[in-house]
Amino acid sequence: MSKHTKIPRHVAVIMDGNGRWATQRHLPRVAGHSRGVDAVRAVIEAGGRRGIEFLTLFAFSSENWRRPADEVSVLMRLFLSALQKEVGRLRDNGVRLRVVGELDAFEPELRRHIAEAEAQTAGNEKLKLTICASYGGRWDIVQAVRALLAADPSVAARPAAVDEALLARHLALAFAPDVDLLIRTGGEQRISNFLLWQSAYAELYFTDLLWPDFDANALDAALAWYATRERRFGRTSAQLAVSP
Ligand code: IPE
Ligand code: IPE
Ligand code: MG
Repeated sequence: MSKHTKIPRHVAVIMDGNGRWATQRHLPRVAGHSRGVDAVRAVIEAGGRRGIEFLTLFAFSSENWRRPADEVSVLMRLFLSALQKEVGRLRDNGVRLRVVGELDAFEPELRRHIAEAEAQTAGNEKLKLTICASYGGRWDIVQAVRALLAADPSVAARPAAVDEALLARHLALAFAPDVDLLIRTGGEQRISNFLLWQSAYAELYFTDLLWPDFDANALDAALAWYATRERRFGRTSAQLAVSP
């Protein structure tokens, strides 16, 4: 699919279903995570070709720390190896990588590679790719409040000075517009503490496809569905007809 009338500027994806993909094949769950990395690569490439400006992927949630220690440690190793393997390709394809979340929870080695990968792609601006890792929407709002108060302690005595725009400036995705299209694979219809603030008016697209099976065609199906949505932002259809 080469031309959509309405391409979302910001697409966010809850990449769910790796474990089930593996279990269905009598493989260990980690085999699903490993195949999930291939799907990430495919969707980044397809997203860039489709003209998506911001692509935000949920890789590991605040709550995923509750998983068995061996699964968590395999996920961390996969993350590290994917960063090392993919950063050159991202850099050469105009992709700017950012990793957001409570990164202090990661090993120093992983943090160092994250910082290096971000620095290597910092000059790019074709596709802004954000990986949410150790990320939770509630964590994000709390850290934004803390950052806001740290930046200007006098605000504590003037609570009326806090408005949506001021708080949003301190959120982890302050550089990006609100999410237009939120995709969740794996069949569940929930947000699982992803981008709570940023998805306030996102169009929600749920697919039963498991994440390792999600590809460029699946992305096109989501984009085609998105193009049929009427985004009213509280207004009426009649108002939109007069001034879209
Ligand atoms: C998503 O797949 C990947 C992560 C949460 C890290 P899951 O591992 O949640 O896969 P299912 O939902 O168990 O199939
Ligand atoms: C959401 O998937 C988090 C990521 C995809 C990284 P989960 O599989 O952890 O979600 P829940 O716990 O089933 O809602
Ligand atoms: Mg899951």
